[in-house]
Amino acid sequence: MNKYHIPVMLSESVSALDLQDGRIYVDATFGGGGHAGKILEGGKSLQLYAFDQDPDAVAQSKILSTKYPDNFFMIQGNFANLRTGLALKRIKKIDGILFDLGVSSHQINKPERGFSFSLEGDLNMRMDQDKELTAFEVVNTYPFEELTRIFREYGEEKEAVRIANNIIKERNKKEIKTTQQLSTIIENCILSHKSIKAKARIFQAIRIYVNKEIETLTTALKEAEEALNPNGRIVVISYHSLEDRIVKKFFKYEAKDCICPPEFPKCICDKVSSLDILTVKPITASKQEIAINPRARSAKMRIARKREVL
Ligand SMILES: C[S@@+](CC[C@H](N)C(=O)[O-])C[C@H]1O[C@@H](n2cnc3c(N)ncnc32)[C@H](O)[C@@H]1O
Repeated sequence: MNKYHIPVMLSESVSALDLQDGRIYVDATFGGGGHAGKILEGGKSLQLYAFDQDPDAVAQSKILSTKYPDNFFMIQGNFANLRTGLALKRIKKIDGILFDLGVSSHQINKPERGFSFSLEGDLNMRMDQDKELTAFEVVNTYPFEELTRIFREYGEEKEAVRIANNIIKERNKKEIKTTQQLSTIIENCILSHKSIKAKARIFQAIRIYVNKEIETLTTALKEAEEALNPNGRIVVISYHSLEDRIVKKFFKYEAKDCICPPEFPKCICDKVSSLDILTVKPITASKQEIAINPRARSAKMRIARKREVL
């Protein structure tokens, strides 16, 4: 078993890529390399370019670079810069790309990364340690309105106002430096049977905000679609409704042939459909997988295929 991270929907997602030997693939979220390793088993002369913005994942990738020196190439960076990252390796077009979004178990289980509400650590939450913004800054300096917006928008938290108020009251007494301080502040203003979910939602909201996860996903999906060769696949596994909604909307928009208002008698938009959606409803993990790996419970996988240009 991979100690770094157990890959979710491993065989389903890799077979969704429809691997062909000799072609070029991208794993946009390398993590512990579980998906990458399986992709590399898919053909002797297939090439895999992997991205991750976390130096821990890049260190982990050495195992695969040693095993597949001619087929595997790691790029440290944000997947929002997909095309630039690939261009630096002289790659313009790809035949499939996988996004397995969010954080890895390794990141969550390392207390000093500050992602977990149940492990004591500094309020950090950066995937990319070179970025300046940390959870500490958000929690200790952001005004009430902004905190409330972040908790509502990225955590879909109904008690956003109450929690933001309590954070401000407590930070006026002393700096909120650790995950446990923040957890206690949430616990103290939420009914006890609701507090675990509230903590999960607030930590998720801050993490999404700190890492600009929504903005980067939106940019990366467009970059991926542009980089794909005809018939190339884009496979996305997401773990919360916010991400899944972005993927669903993007696929729907790109699959449309016309975006004119319905009352227009004739199409004047010149929109060309670029994707075929292969999953009307998202694919979810099997009961057996969820029993072994509870993280798979919230996973939703969507697949689309690049259209032939006529
Ligand atoms: C769920 S894990 C991927 C696990 C991986 N599929 C495996 O089998 O081990 C997500 C990984 O994506 C990385 N990541 C998330 N957002 C990213 C982004 N915008 N750019 C680059 N890497 C990102 C995280 O650092 C993390 O290592």
